[in-house]
Amino acid sequence: MRDVKVRSPCSSANLGSGFDAFGLALEAFHDTLTLELTDGGVEIEVTGVGAEEIPTAPDRNTAGLVAKEILKNRDVGVRIRLHKGVPLRMGLGSSGASAAACAFGLNELLDLELSEDEIIRWAAVGEEAAAGASHADNVAASVLGGFTIVRTYGDSLSAVRLEPPPNLWVALALPSIETAESKTAAARAVLPSHVPFKHAVLNIQNAAMVVAGFHIGDVEMIGRGMTDLIVEPYRKKLIPGYEPVKMAALNAGAAGVAISGAGPGVIAVIDSSKTSPRDVAEAMREAFQDEGIECTACCCRPSLTGTERMS
Ligand code: HSE
Repeated sequence: MRDVKVRSPCSSANLGSGFDAFGLALEAFHDTLTLELTDGGVEIEVTGVGAEEIPTAPDRNTAGLVAKEILKNRDVGVRIRLHKGVPLRMGLGSSGASAAACAFGLNELLDLELSEDEIIRWAAVGEEAAAGASHADNVAASVLGGFTIVRTYGDSLSAVRLEPPPNLWVALALPSIETAESKTAAARAVLPSHVPFKHAVLNIQNAAMVVAGFHIGDVEMIGRGMTDLIVEPYRKKLIPGYEPVKMAALNAGAAGVAISGAGPGVIAVIDSSKTSPRDVAEAMREAFQDEGIECTACCCRPSLTGTERMS
């Protein structure tokens, strides 16, 4: 076998209370990657959404970094053709989708027989290129699909996947807000080194409710549990209009609202048996617009499949 083609869904990390732990794979956008074996080195071509802004130097590209690390001490190289579908710097795990596709694809191409956790660990290495710190929440969701919880402790990583309830939809508001080139690194830099004990306790309670909500299929419980006291208060300052947009989504019937990953995108979780996801998306778009911020909005289901081989 000389080449493989794989496809990875975008994802929304954190879901409020689960910073660096929760991820939800989304059907909205996908990255497609073709990997072809060569005699040596890592070459990258990028096409699609925002291609001109994506570095092709392997050390600065999330897929490239994954390939370089996996191929270290192996006598082969790889040509990566990355077609971006996931918009950049929105908080939809764009860098993670490319990294996940590369780790998954090389596992297939080189017959490495990696476990799912090992694929996620390699993919998380790629996130260092984008965030300056390796976080595995987006890549876990992109690899496994569905709702994921990842635990990273020292060198060990373990991930769990839960099936989202069929009536769970999300609405996404994607505002046109200027962000730093290293957007995730900048959004991590505003976080405090200490949080009040009471807020940590409340976040643990909320995060446990999110997990329980996915386990028993209760969208309202998931939404309530998204309440976050340790990250949102610091990051919302980076998103003009965040509070009115959140209120608009809740008033339109959303079960819960949070900054999507490191933002500036905003995610609302909706019980589609009670509320129209389109109404929530439109309410968020209008609220950003009322603040003078252009915004696109859409709604989708979670992606039940993770990274998949296409050929
Ligand atoms: N958990 C990461 C963060 C996700 O919020 O910084 C970045 O997409």
